[in-house]
Amino acid sequence: MSQLETYITENEERFLNDLKEWLRIPSISTLPEHADDVSRAAGYAVEQLYYIGFERVEAIQTQGHPLVYGEWLKAPGKPTLLIYGHYDVQPVDPVELWQTPPFEPSVRDGNIYARGACDDKGQVMLVLKALEALMTVNGALPVNVKLLLEGEEEAGGEAIEHYLKTYPERLACDAAFICDTHMPAQDIPALIYGLRGIIYTEVEAQGARRDLHSGSYGGVAPNPLHALAIIIGRLKDADGHIHIPGLYDNVRKPTHAEKDFWHNDPLHINEALREEMGVPRLSGELEYPPLERIWGRPTLEVHGIAGGFVGEGAKTVIPAVAKAKISLRLPPDLKSHDVFALFEQAVQEVAPPDVKVTVRNLHGGEGVLVSPDSAPIQAAAMALEEVYGKPPVFLREGGSIPIAALFDDVLHVPVVLMGFGLPDDNLHAPNEKYSLSQFYKGIRTVASFLQKMA
Ligand code: BES
Ligand code: MN
Ligand code: MN
Repeated sequence: MSQLETYITENEERFLNDLKEWLRIPSISTLPEHADDVSRAAGYAVEQLYYIGFERVEAIQTQGHPLVYGEWLKAPGKPTLLIYGHYDVQPVDPVELWQTPPFEPSVRDGNIYARGACDDKGQVMLVLKALEALMTVNGALPVNVKLLLEGEEEAGGEAIEHYLKTYPERLACDAAFICDTHMPAQDIPALIYGLRGIIYTEVEAQGARRDLHSGSYGGVAPNPLHALAIIIGRLKDADGHIHIPGLYDNVRKPTHAEKDFWHNDPLHINEALREEMGVPRLSGELEYPPLERIWGRPTLEVHGIAGGFVGEGAKTVIPAVAKAKISLRLPPDLKSHDVFALFEQAVQEVAPPDVKVTVRNLHGGEGVLVSPDSAPIQAAAMALEEVYGKPPVFLREGGSIPIAALFDDVLHVPVVLMGFGLPDDNLHAPNEKYSLSQFYKGIRTVASFLQKMA
């Protein structure tokens, strides 16, 4: 056994304990009452970087939550890898559906359960442990590394975008590596070559100046909740078609290889998706294969509608105001800024005339397509093959990691999207988990990836 392998094997338990400690910090970036927890989680990452032996380690204060930076640049002549991850997590509600509390990490059946177990603390921790193992065993890393973590990925990621655009030279590198994606199954290693972008909006409808008795005013009063229902119903029909003029104009056609793969679904992902969701059939645009619907088509989703009365019992009220959270996923080539303008216009056009509608752009990010042929991605593919015993498949993902497109755009470097999540990890949902075997294999894969990059 190599010294590296011995070190990793002997330290697996401590690696897991470090992850647990990080997971106990409820770093929910979108909730202001957790701002101190987010800072504490940044502090924990800072400690880890010092421990590994990184230099210029700091929590960088921003307009929002801190960034965490550290570097090790003592491999002259070797490439520089910029590693990105996020230490913030999603909210935990509905908390009563968790089998164990979200911030009390619990190991069951070879998985660790906690908010952030996979997304993204588990995936960042495995990278940190790969770095620690390489540094401890060899006294050095095989390549130069700059590591940048953000604390508001789940809440829009403005600070990191600003930092990257202000100081691109500080982040100059030969390749970027993001460990925040999935494999389709334990035994199917994957590299991701495409992600969708997103716009996240809030649509507010205002009717009367105050809430009204639905008997005294029903028949003459505008109803903002109903107005939102009409807007939403007109924006996307029951067949999954989105009625926003111009939206589909720039959607990039899949390549022949993609068309075949999406149509034939050789990895049987369609069936897995259906089972995962527990539904009898897949929804959406029937004329496109399901994989294209997730990876290559725009979508429009309503996340929540607030207003009026939703408590126990009954209350006959016509609310004065109602709001809906609506997002669109955007395949590469659809630009978030342009799509927001189309969306806003479409909302105003379909809105009933008796309410005043405001559309807000809460956040957005671009999709990305990377070429699988670059040397760093090939190094990652070899590392995956070494650890998993077979070469990875190249897939797209329907989710969004806005920084990926920014690295591509601002730094002009290849972006390696290699993650170890599994489809049933329950990201953003109750009982989020991470497979321990994926965690440990991830450590070995990332260590090997860095060696192969050198
Ligand atoms: N790690 C996810 C993105 C992801 C999910 C990639 C599943 C691959 C598979 C990331 O943390 C995330 O949730 N992103 C948000 C972005 C948004 C808040 C700007 C998303 O996709 O909703
Ligand atoms: Mn993530
Ligand atoms: Mn996420």
